[in-house]
Amino acid sequence: MLAQIAISVGFLLACGLVLAGLLLLAEKKILNYGTCHIDVNSGRKDLAVEGGSSLLSSLAENNIFIPSACGGRGSCAYCKVTVREGGGMIGPVEEPYLSPEERQASVRLACQVKVRRDLRIEIPDELFNVSRFRAKLLHKKPLTHDIVELRMQLLEPGEITFEAGQYVQLESAEYKGRDSVMRGYSISSLPSDRNHLELIIRRVPDGICTTWVFDHLKEGQELNFSGPYGFFHLSDTDAPLIGIAGGSGMAPIWAIVRDMKEKGITHRPATYFFGALTQKDLFFMDEFRQLEKDCPWFTFVPALSKEPDDSGWTGERGLITDVVARRFPDASQHEAYLCGSPGMIDASVAVLRSNGMPEENIFYDKFA
Ligand SMILES: Cc1cc2nc3c(=O)[nH]c(=O)nc-3n(C[C@H](O)[C@H](O)[C@H](O)COP(=O)(O)OP(=O)(O)OC[C@H]3O[C@@H](n4cnc5c(N)ncnc54)[C@H](O)[C@@H]3O)c2cc1C
Ligand code: FES
Repeated sequence: MLAQIAISVGFLLACGLVLAGLLLLAEKKILNYGTCHIDVNSGRKDLAVEGGSSLLSSLAENNIFIPSACGGRGSCAYCKVTVREGGGMIGPVEEPYLSPEERQASVRLACQVKVRRDLRIEIPDELFNVSRFRAKLLHKKPLTHDIVELRMQLLEPGEITFEAGQYVQLESAEYKGRDSVMRGYSISSLPSDRNHLELIIRRVPDGICTTWVFDHLKEGQELNFSGPYGFFHLSDTDAPLIGIAGGSGMAPIWAIVRDMKEKGITHRPATYFFGALTQKDLFFMDEFRQLEKDCPWFTFVPALSKEPDDSGWTGERGLITDVVARRFPDASQHEAYLCGSPGMIDASVAVLRSNGMPEENIFYDKFA
């Protein structure tokens, strides 16, 4: 009986997959939308594109790069643009990501809108400054057992302008039958080093881009990325800072703190909490101790949640959120900069809010 049910379910699934494939094929090969025009920001650009692709990829082919951290899978919601005309109906993938106000304002996910007719769209002006870069990998340095640092020399264009905290989208190459994908990575190098770019990347088991970075990308190889993207950077207030990160979430905070030092921003006390499991997940420890010596306004607090009791570790123990709550029972006057997994960020926001921090003082990049 169970076997019969399994066979029926399998048969139905296979039929569904074949049908979906046929529909995609028909869309690509049989339906011919011809040349469509995309009017961007009321005449700032008028693009003539071949219909049938997503708005996201049609724009990218014309050197307009919309943030797309999930690579067009419809799961990051970074690719929102305003589609005034020609966008068609909101699809089921988009629905959960669009608030009633956004629907009212004609906001759509660019990766889910198909170009089938002429479109009239609006994008933030900053996105006209995003470029696609070719670079050469100078080093791939292990920082821990599952984190590497990439350092690149920019080839074309040879310089990048960005703010500490922003991110780029790295393009993996095809390997072992896996397509090229784009993924977001925060820049860990300093904005003053305009000819180079550094990233800190953590391996995700079976992740497409990180497997390419760890197992296929070689020093000396050329690679591509676009950027800079994002609004995660130091505000221009005088508020003291709390930074919270875990794992490769280190990247933008490492850039922001050193950028503050370089620019002589000494009037904003900054405490940076870094959460890890055990000592083998820590890195840049010597560099942070040196920063503490050089910068009286800066405090580094690493905290370990799974370190064996008898290891000799004398620093903080426990969840990073508990350590923050203990050290800042009143966070009402501070600003917070959070970076890492969505779970860690949600937990940190809850703690900071309950310790008095206004929502508008909390900035984060979720590594989703
Ligand atoms: C703004 C931003 C900045 C970031 N900065 C950094 C950084 O500095 N350093 C860093 O290490 N990471 C960073 N990330 C995360 C990074 O972009 C990638 O998400 C991460 O490296 C995983 O990519 P991947 O291609 O290896 O994994 P993916 O192939 O995307 O897979 C990730 C996980 O999702 C699962 N998965 C695969 N396909 C699907 C699917 N179709 N649907 C659902 N789940 C699926 C996989 O099994 C795996 O568990 C950042 C993310 C954002 C949004
Ligand atoms: S690119 Fe991620 S949702 Fe569109």
